[in-house]
Amino acid sequence: MYMQPLISDTPRTPKNPLRLCVFVSGNGSNLQALIDAANAPNTCFKIALVISNIKNTFALGRAHAAGIPAVTICHNDFSSRLDFEKTLITQCIDYHVELVVLAGFMRVLSPHFLSYFPNQVVNVHPALCPAFPGIHAARQALARGVKYAGCTVHLVNEGVDEGPIIAQAIVPVYPDDDENRLQKRIQIQEHLLLPKMIQEIAIGNVLIADSEICLRKKSDPVI
Ligand code: GRF
Repeated sequence: MYMQPLISDTPRTPKNPLRLCVFVSGNGSNLQALIDAANAPNTCFKIALVISNIKNTFALGRAHAAGIPAVTICHNDFSSRLDFEKTLITQCIDYHVELVVLAGFMRVLSPHFLSYFPNQVVNVHPALCPAFPGIHAARQALARGVKYAGCTVHLVNEGVDEGPIIAQAIVPVYPDDDENRLQKRIQIQEHLLLPKMIQEIAIGNVLIADSEICLRKKSDPVI
């Protein structure tokens, strides 16, 4: 099976970085992890734009503090999801966005949006997908009595938290855990995994064929 790099055949460099738009709805700790990573010397991605669908989020403050263009596009201001998404698409096009990263974005994107960015929308979910989709993933994990939890970086498809998996990180679940403690442990891993995988995408190490994803091993020949 011929596998090709997810975004482009040309591996990005710090001087020619992959342009991201990060979609947020709240705190933005994953956005912060991306901002910090983007400032590191060898990083091959750049946050071109941040979009929040909620007004005055903490995440917007993080973008402003970092000098990153940030806009609020509130879904409640539109009469239809299509109009909301058309505005998201227009903004992304205006900023020459190549990869959309959902980092705590609490809206489901429709096939209309996804068709504009085929295999170009990535999500981070605080569970070992396909387990525990939707909200309160840590709560669901505790209720189910799992011994290991974690997070997943995956491509977004039309389902909820179920697109092709790019990478996962695992954390233990301890007998005395509560939701908050488990969620914090998972988030520490999210903040490491998400920037790491965006960098891997940027340098062409995430390969795809149909809906199958694999990571190029260091020893693989360059295609
Ligand atoms: C993260 O746990 C992410 O996995 C989930 O929503 C949470 C957002 O947290 N989709 P933050 O806004 O990045 O702090």
